Amino acid sequence: MKDLLRLRTSLTEEIERVLNEQIKMEADASAMYLSMSAWCDRNGFDFSAGYFKEQSDEEREHMLRLFKYVSDMGGRAVSPDVTNIQIEFESLRSVFEQALQQEIAVTQSFNRMADRCQKSKDYVTFTFLQWFLKEQIEEEYVARRALELFEVIGEEGTGLYEIDKRVPKIKYEDTY
Ligand SMILES: [Fe+2]
Ligand SMILES: [Fe+2]
Repeated sequence: MKDLLRLRTSLTEEIERVLNEQIKMEADASAMYLSMSAWCDRNGFDFSAGYFKEQSDEEREHMLRLFKYVSDMGGRAVSPDVTNIQIEFESLRSVFEQALQQEIAVTQSFNRMADRCQKSKDYVTFTFLQWFLKEQIEEEYVARRALELFEVIGEEGTGLYEIDKRVPKIKYEDTY
């Protein structure tokens, strides 16, 4: 039965598994950003709340893009469990620190996946992953810039208010 099922797809079991793991990672990232948005909202950081809500929507889009690929290829896409999402954060700065760490972890995960695709000579999936690898340049850039605002502006006085206002204005220019 297992072999019969495999005839329906050129995805190996290993590649299908790592794609599903990535689907879960994107779903977790989406939920985490939504949680960060709620924390910002509760603490008076309106602009950051809007920024994280947008990030959350983007991560869901990433999840659906991977989901569609697995389905389109005849594989079994698994709707992931999302549990134990952090609710409280220490400070606005710690929220942005965690956001950057999350993006770096996602980049590393896609790198590992690309590596596995090459090792198993799955160039179809390897090509599909290029969009995500490129997307991570922007994702990391924006998260890093947001965190740098804490150094550039400083948190004293109305600093946090200014940082919050600046967050949605961060833009990545793809000029190369
Ligand atoms: Fe993502
Ligand atoms: Fe992201």
